[in-house]
Amino acid sequence: MLQAINPTSTAAWSKLREHFEQMKLIQMQDLFEEDSSRGSSFNIQFDNFLLDYSKNKITKETLSYLIELGEEVHLREAIEALFNGSKVNKTENRAVLHTALRDFTPEASIVVDGVNVLDEIRQTRARIKDFVDRVVQGDYTSSTGEAFTDIVNIGIGGSDLGPKMVVQGLANYSNHLRAHFISNVDDDYLYSILDKLNPQTTLVLVVSKTFTTQETVLNADKVVQWLSESVAKDQLTQHLVGVTAEVERAVAYGINPAVIFPMWDHIGGRFSLWSSVGLSIALAIGYENFEKLLKGANKMDVHFRTAPFEQNIPVVCALLSVWYNNFFGYETEAVVPYSQFLERFPAHLQQMIMESNGKDKNREGFPVNYETGTLIWGDVGVSAQHAFFQLFHQGTKVVPVDFIGFVNPFCSSDSNHTILMSNFFGQTEALLNGKEATREIDTEDPLIQNFREFTGNKPSNTLLIDKLTPESLGALVALYEHKTFVQGVIWNIYSFDQFGVEYGKVLAKNIQGEIISNNVLKHDSSTAFLLNYYLRNRSL
Ligand code: F6P
Repeated sequence: MLQAINPTSTAAWSKLREHFEQMKLIQMQDLFEEDSSRGSSFNIQFDNFLLDYSKNKITKETLSYLIELGEEVHLREAIEALFNGSKVNKTENRAVLHTALRDFTPEASIVVDGVNVLDEIRQTRARIKDFVDRVVQGDYTSSTGEAFTDIVNIGIGGSDLGPKMVVQGLANYSNHLRAHFISNVDDDYLYSILDKLNPQTTLVLVVSKTFTTQETVLNADKVVQWLSESVAKDQLTQHLVGVTAEVERAVAYGINPAVIFPMWDHIGGRFSLWSSVGLSIALAIGYENFEKLLKGANKMDVHFRTAPFEQNIPVVCALLSVWYNNFFGYETEAVVPYSQFLERFPAHLQQMIMESNGKDKNREGFPVNYETGTLIWGDVGVSAQHAFFQLFHQGTKVVPVDFIGFVNPFCSSDSNHTILMSNFFGQTEALLNGKEATREIDTEDPLIQNFREFTGNKPSNTLLIDKLTPESLGALVALYEHKTFVQGVIWNIYSFDQFGVEYGKVLAKNIQGEIISNNVLKHDSSTAFLLNYYLRNRSL
């Protein structure tokens, strides 16, 4: 179980507060001047990952206080509680076991409420493998006996973002099945996808843990309607697959129980891509690659669970983030992967991190008196350099950046990769060192020179990974999952519920009733004004 410890009451926090007074004015350039081995001493190598965190506003002393903080909030016990199936999601009375989904230890068991969840997971993996192999090989066919060519994943939030990100991220590993994703309630978009598909060779996955999410059910209804225009009614089930924790609801919807894949209470939506929710991934890249993704994540799990804190990549990343968030007051963090394939990675992290740690109550239910969840944003490099990097270099706000790059490209011709990576290294160096004002052109007005000055001293982490593969992507996603968990432990919050988002669903349902009945009920004057304006002006 997680203990309720206010981090600001720990001895380590007091030391960090005092230490911050010295560190806040420090220039990282000076730290590098003073210690020529800084670059090689502030890094962690694990498997195919190298984390260089030397370009941060820290010294060995900072790190030791941050680690003390982890110890004082009983981080080690919290990690064990996560892995061993304790109900760390106390507000929903649930264990949190996405790590079990990638545990391949033979004979192991994790018992929750009298059930060995690893048995269920193993059985489900075997079902996924069997189904995926049959679809990919063309043995599980459509109503007309044809092999499927396309899959449509209908889901939202965790039932969409993770699978979509991984399918795109591992496009180089894909087979002949084309995967499409529909999440938003936007008919124009939905039909722009369906119009290109042949219903007779399309397999539809309805993915919803609760099977009640309005957007998903609405979209599923539309897609089923589209299917039924070409597929005989009694053959429709051949085109439908369900993924849910509410099997009865999926059966009632008309999905064949033989192709309903379970998920469980102990798997949160934003951590579910490793479960049956990842069926679209397994179909698109084949089961073997899906298993490699899980095994890569498992390697990071073992590292996280066993490495000492100072050698632990997720722990160090989390501690640095706490240092900036709670002492320097930097509110946002950017994540910039230097791979076009990882375009959806920041969006996946946004749900994972902000839905988890966007909490203002501590573990005793009272408002926290310190900052919690950071804002996460980003896009792929090099493109992002031409968009928002100007603010990193010369803005008034400091944004710590995670640079994620790959040593080796997927294809053998690597001339563009060299340029990509030159930008990657160049940006981290520029953010650290800045640039003195220099006269670019002899005739230039000396005042103009000031505008060419960059102060530098902007923090970043550099994560260098051998290659973008199923294993490394699995490990990368797991790294951020564990970073998120560590931060939640330190901030004394519960990271695994999402009552805020759920309230949004209730509000929308109420307002929908008012719009349909053309009757605006009691709201604040702004919302009432907007609703009345909308009702008066809509042309439907
Ligand atoms: O967005 C809120 C949320 O509850 C997410 O946590 C979840 O991933 C998503 O809705 C979808 O829920 P479901 O899988 O039950 O349709």
